[in-house]
Amino acid sequence: MHKIDIELVEMTLDVMKYAIDRISSTKHEIGKPQKEEELKRLVGETITAEGIGGENAFNLWKKHLMKANVPIDHPRHLAFVPASPTRAAVMFDLVTSASSIHGAYWMEGAGGIYCENEAMKWIVSLTGMPEGSFGVFTSGGTAANLSAIVTAREFWRSLDNKNRSEKGLIMTSIGAHSSIKAMAKVMDVDVILVETEGRLEAKALQRTISQLTEHQRQRLFAIVATGGTTNAGIIDDLDGIANFCKQHHLWFHVDAAYGGGALAAKSVRHLFNGIEKADSITIDPHKWMFSPYDCGAVIYKNMNLAKDAHSQHGSYLDIFKDEGAHGFNPADYQIQLTRRVRGLPLWFSLALHGTNKYESAIERGLELAQIAGRLIRENPKLELVREPSLSCVLYRRIGWKPEDYTHWTYENHKKGFALVAPTKWKTGDNFETVSRFCFINPDTTEQDIQMILDSMF
Ligand SMILES: Cc1ncc(COP(=O)(O)O)c(C=O)c1O
Repeated sequence: MHKIDIELVEMTLDVMKYAIDRISSTKHEIGKPQKEEELKRLVGETITAEGIGGENAFNLWKKHLMKANVPIDHPRHLAFVPASPTRAAVMFDLVTSASSIHGAYWMEGAGGIYCENEAMKWIVSLTGMPEGSFGVFTSGGTAANLSAIVTAREFWRSLDNKNRSEKGLIMTSIGAHSSIKAMAKVMDVDVILVETEGRLEAKALQRTISQLTEHQRQRLFAIVATGGTTNAGIIDDLDGIANFCKQHHLWFHVDAAYGGGALAAKSVRHLFNGIEKADSITIDPHKWMFSPYDCGAVIYKNMNLAKDAHSQHGSYLDIFKDEGAHGFNPADYQIQLTRRVRGLPLWFSLALHGTNKYESAIERGLELAQIAGRLIRENPKLELVREPSLSCVLYRRIGWKPEDYTHWTYENHKKGFALVAPTKWKTGDNFETVSRFCFINPDTTEQDIQMILDSMF
């Protein structure tokens, strides 16, 4: 398996050709999922004692399996939070794989980690956090949120011995991403949700905190604000919440996994004021910074606290802490030990294009949301649920019931035309099903948006 022969060389050329086609193509088809039984029928047994051969396996991939995926970078993929990795970043993902770098410790991955850190310096500079703040790339927003809140919890426990035997408590709003609750479950931490899908403000936190019992107040250690909610692109009152946290001695975490890219956009940067006061921030380069999957980032004001929480110890790891191996060790600041240098594709793309191009591509996402807003306003059968926020647009097709939205989503997907999924918007006690766009891909056009809207009639 590890020797070089003519078959390997031919296979390498085939794989390179596929990668070149994929990277340079402007027309991707929106694939559709198939039932597992159907995929099995199409491709047969692929894992056998003797192997089915590279050419055969690769052909099955191209002919059947690849087509059962939805390319996340399709310009009419506007559901969930899509992605749109730059071609340079995708290319360098190949280099990252081919280079076999262990990205946990400087001793083994100095060159790769150096590049990651250069990209990270740019991201940290966008936040305006004080000198000494820094971060590390993670597998995504969930892992970044988990790493940050574990750090916060460990810090809280270190403050008072009483806290060591207590179950922690955090507060956030119902607009926060599902990963906050998931991560709290992993940590066995309780969550109190402030009942607003709109902008979370310090006033609401003040009201909620005043209703806590003394014991709950003692267990409360962090507030999670959102810098761009997944559903609607809403940015919480970061400055007000920062001051609230300072007053109540609470850790201030900002989940900007989706919205963080917009820190680079001058037109909306002011909406994030206060983020610079955060103790930790999550930003996902695989969302609005055009990195391939998977690439999240967690940034800390005080890196030593993250190190206290995450640094692993074992006699087999002692060598990494030796003088001769000194340098930045990403394993010390988040939950993962062995890791891919997943910030490397972002570094290459940033180095190649420069940060100005990132700024314009992100501004384009914001502009597309405004264009969609205008097209919706111009159509008497459509209505904005709220003004576009960041690159999210929520709108209703007047007269439609929830099942009409679902049917429309499936029809468009089935035709390979677009993927736009419905969501729910809460007003009072009522959850209304509406349609939602989230723009990331700068290649999406006004015509794409118009065609999708037209398909509702
Ligand atoms: C605000 C927010 N936080 C966290 C996440 C989770 O990120 P990931 O899917 O990279 O783990 C998302 C994903 O959409 C998100 O939008």
